[in-house]
Amino acid sequence: MGSWNWFSKSGFNSSSTAEQVTEGIDATRLTAIVTGATSGIGKETARMLALRGANVIMLSRDLKNGLKTKELILQENPEAKLEVMEMDLASIKSITSFAQSFNASQQPLNILINNAGILACPFQLSKDGIELQFATNHLGHFLLTKLLMDKLTTTARKTGIEGRIINVSSIAHRKYSKEDSLLDLEIINNPTKYWHFLLCNYFYNLISMHFMNTHVAGLISSSLN
Ligand SMILES: NC(=O)c1ccc[n+]([C@@H]2O[C@H](COP(=O)([O-])OP(=O)(O)OC[C@H]3O[C@@H](n4cnc5c(N)ncnc54)[C@H](OP(=O)(O)O)[C@@H]3O)[C@@H](O)[C@H]2O)c1
Repeated sequence: MGSWNWFSKSGFNSSSTAEQVTEGIDATRLTAIVTGATSGIGKETARMLALRGANVIMLSRDLKNGLKTKELILQENPEAKLEVMEMDLASIKSITSFAQSFNASQQPLNILINNAGILACPFQLSKDGIELQFATNHLGHFLLTKLLMDKLTTTARKTGIEGRIINVSSIAHRKYSKEDSLLDLEIINNPTKYWHFLLCNYFYNLISMHFMNTHVAGLISSSLN
């Protein structure tokens, strides 16, 4: 049995399905935002939260793509409470505009899942002139979290339900070699060394927890590896 198949204390491992892990959970009182909800882990997360009754806001940088994903989830679960909103993590303007519009709404926010990510792509700059992976995976999520903090805190206080901020990373961050610089563009854009960014995700979680004082605000922030 490889290391990926070890059972954790929870009794689940990498072959456990999302249905198995969430069985019996009632999420009907919860509202969650999922970034990168159009494919992969984000799509499955949105599907599963909705299956357990949560109200899910699916963030997508392409509205059409988001609506297509929503339709697919609704085909399987017509009761799903899903809303698609547009936001590009590689654009400060887009993040600010989404956060303003969400914060102005009457919707609460219990869970923020920072899932979207790009990995080991060729060197490119974001609309704001920042290296694209750093802008998308870290700065974008940091800004989004910061702008939604009041909403998360207020919801936790009003409902008495501890809020959650989840930063999706990977156990692959452990492959990081101390000889490699985290700030070297030759390394962070190298597909064979993608775990540097996963290590950054891990640090990002620690840093954001510290700066945003989440424990004081009735929130738990964790890195999902
Ligand atoms: N897959 C794995 O084996 C694995 C393992 C460990 C950790 N992870 C982590 O899990 C997370 C999700 O991975 P995945 O494999 O599910 O990825 P994926 O299928 O490639 O999906 C990535 C999502 O991020 C979105 N995205 C990319 N750039 C964006 C931007 N600028 N603004 C907003 N959204 C953007 C994509 O939207 P579009 O549809 O518009 O492209 C897509 O919905 C990542 O953080 C990754 O590091 C994945």
